[in-house]
Parts: sequence; structure tokens; C-alpha cells
Amino acid sequence: MKQYKFILAPLRGYTNKEYRYVLTKNFKFISSCYMPFFSVTDSIPTKFSKYMGAFTEDELNHNITYQVVPQIIGNKPASVAGFCMLLRDNGFPVINFNLGCPMPQITKKTRGCGLLPHPDMIRSILDEVFKIDGISFSVKIRLGLKSKDEILSVIPVLNDYPLDSVTVHPRLSTDRYEGVCDIDTFGTILPSFKSKVIYNGDIVDNESFKRITSRFAELDTFMIGRGLLYKPFLTEELQSETDFSYEERIERFQSFYADLLEALKGKQNYMSQIKAYWAYFKSLYKDGEERYKRIVKS
Ligand SMILES: Cc1cc2nc3c(=O)[nH]c(=O)nc-3n(C[C@H](O)[C@H](O)[C@H](O)COP(=O)(O)O)c2cc1C
Repeated sequence: MKQYKFILAPLRGYTNKEYRYVLTKNFKFISSCYMPFFSVTDSIPTKFSKYMGAFTEDELNHNITYQVVPQIIGNKPASVAGFCMLLRDNGFPVINFNLGCPMPQITKKTRGCGLLPHPDMIRSILDEVFKIDGISFSVKIRLGLKSKDEILSVIPVLNDYPLDSVTVHPRLSTDRYEGVCDIDTFGTILPSFKSKVIYNGDIVDNESFKRITSRFAELDTFMIGRGLLYKPFLTEELQSETDFSYEERIERFQSFYADLLEALKGKQNYMSQIKAYWAYFKSLYKDGEERYKRIVKS
């Protein structure tokens, strides 16, 4: 059986430190967790203490079984590079750059996916970043802001730098997270990347995973976001190529959930956080809608 590498996708508001701690404690086969983005604007970040709260104690002490990858969103070369140095100097040299966030309040400021129509800006950021020693830098990208032709002008820029990897989520910004991923375009552009490509998008069960692995046998690393919210044990099902029974799923979920509640205890937004998770967790239960309604009501 092929050994796959699974990466927890950054999901702002969900894959926070408590979730990462509990997920990796309960389930196997998660090799890396990308953190939800840190935003940098004009000023160059100088104080790591400002960002420490986003990491688990174990992540700060490097006492973890997975690689934690901070993600940066921004468009100012000096600030992005400055933040990379700050992260490196505090023990986090493996860093990802966000070229995929589709939220209009981000893209209209030429950040995230908003950078894709501007390969020249991407180049100036990469120029600064790759002057820094001792970091491993990757990007996470969509096909484009408005048109999938945009990525065709971005790939040659990315190919000019020794990126650790490029994670591709094959949708446009305008698709947000709706509709099907554009696997055909993904297949067309895949051979053009010089660096390792990681696939991301709509892997939610063995069937959807097989659709990708059977078509792209050369891939070995997959980033999963919502699939791991629906089914926190998903990596174990995928690696074993088995669907757990309903009873086993519930049993595994319940021990994970008990740990999650414990980890979230005392957080200011405890109830709203649990409610947000249940929008996903409900799909596990036959009476999920009922359970969800009760949670929302409480
Ligand atoms: C609520 C939410 C928050 C997200 N936050 C981030 C983020 O901070 N950084 C990022 O690169 N992508 C973010 N994404 C995109 C995911 O990382 C991922 O690319 C997307 O959900 C598609 O993968 P999936 O189908 O496995 O969920 C977010 C997506 C959602 C739904």
C-alpha cells in the first residue's frame, strides 16, 4: 500500500491550536499542519510574542509529531521577508505563503488570490524571501482570481525559485468553495511546475481520494481541510483504504470530541466555536440535523 502524506489545511476559525492538538493526538498520518494565515501589512513584524498565542505549547517547544507551518498573507516584500526572518529566528523556518484566499476584503487589497493577476508583485516578494538563509518556503495557490489563464503567467515566476512545494486548490477565487474542483485544468498545468505539487480540494472520503490518486499517480502529498472537519479520522480511512463502520466512526469521533471540549474549556468564544464545528460534525450522525439544532439552540 502506498504511504501517503497528509497535510491539515489552514482553516481560519477552525484549525486553531486546540483543534491541531486534539486532531494529531487522536489520529495518525498527519505529517504537517499549515496554520491559518498571519496577516502582515506595511510594517515589518519584530515581536514574536504577538504571534505566540496561535501556537500550542508543544509546537512552541517543538515537542510535536507533525511539522507546523505558519502561513503568511501580505503583499509587501519587505514585511513578508521580515516576518519570515522573525519566524525562522524563533524556530519556525518552514513557512507557507497564501496566494489563494478568495475573500473579497482580502483580494481587493491585492492579497491572497488578489495577487494572481500580478505575477510581477509575486516575483518581488519571492525575490526578497529567497535572499533569506535557513528557511523553507512554499506557496498555496488557486487557479486564478477571475480566470484560470492567470496561473499560466504565475507558474513561470514560481519556477524561478527553489520553492519547497506548491499546493494547488483548483478553483477560481470567484468559485469560493462551491462547485467541483477543476481537475482537468489541474492535470493540464501539473507538468509545468518545477517544484513538488500538493493537491488540495474536496477530499472527503475514499471515493473522492481515489478519483485524484488514480488520475495523478505521481502525487504523494495531499492537503485536506473540510474533509477533516467532517471526519477527523479521515486520514486513517484514506491510508488504510477502508471505510470505518458507522459505530466505529462514532466511537472514534466521541473520544476526539471529548478531548476537543476539554481543550476549548475556558475559551471566550467556547459556545460559538462549538457551534461552528457542529456545522461539520453533524454529518457524522444519522440524527445529525437534530443534534445540530439542539446545539444551536443552547
Ligand atoms: C472557513 C475556511 C477558512 C479558511 N482559511 C484559510 C487560511 O487561513 N489559509 C488558506 O490558505 N486557506 C484557507 N482556507 C482554504 C482551505 O485551506 C482549503 O484550501 C479549502 O478549504 C479547500 O480544501 P478542502 O476542500 O479540503 O476543504 C479556508 C477555507 C475555509 C472553508
